[in-house]
Amino acid sequence: SAVGLAPPAGMAPASGFSGFQDERQNASILLTMLPPPALNDALAGFADDPQLMQRGITAEARERLTIAGQPALLVTGRQRAGAAEPRLSLADFLREVLDLTGTHVGCEHGVCGACTVLLDGEPIRACLMLAVQAAGRSITTVEGLAPGDGLSPLQQAFQDKHGLQCGYCTPGILLTTQAFLRQNPSPTREEIREMLAGNLCRCTGYHLIVEAIEAAAHGLARTHTPKPA
Ligand code: FES
Ligand code: FES
Repeated sequence: SAVGLAPPAGMAPASGFSGFQDERQNASILLTMLPPPALNDALAGFADDPQLMQRGITAEARERLTIAGQPALLVTGRQRAGAAEPRLSLADFLREVLDLTGTHVGCEHGVCGACTVLLDGEPIRACLMLAVQAAGRSITTVEGLAPGDGLSPLQQAFQDKHGLQCGYCTPGILLTTQAFLRQNPSPTREEIREMLAGNLCRCTGYHLIVEAIEAAAHGLARTHTPKPA
């Protein structure tokens, strides 16, 4: 059997969270488990095609999955629908069902950090979590980091300082760092290196990543420090 994911009535993902509400409104997916009758209705369109359920739902089928006429998920400011089998990982759900391919998959064992997303603002390994376990939680992917079409200050710092090469590790590092800088807005170089220990990068040697994070922290500190009168 499959489990449907949909927002609660009213779709208000930012309510109840403190801080960073604007970012979350732009960036969040709120996953809510459907009760069985609504789930059956939602999945009725897929009943004749068991293939669809094997690795999530195809794009065409996804278009048809709405709950009582309402799109089922809110993602990066756009409404999307998705359904997941209980065995589908959150990483695969994001990539294959919602087409949010910025979440990368490397080791699938919780080691490399490529799949890191924010769950209610805290970094987690999306390869180690089932999509259905995220029901009712707010997920931020790298697609949601920037408020509009441009780059977030952290992303801009990575571009300016050449903090990436192939970019495979970058989404996970950006999200891990985003949460880290909230807790520690003025980190030392050692603290940055320690924070990065959970995200493996094969290309850069980390030096320019550390520089990018330092630059972002300095920029954010400038933004938030009141100017002397
Ligand atoms: Fe999840 Fe490596 S793919 S930690
Ligand atoms: Fe290639 Fe980090 S930039 S793995």
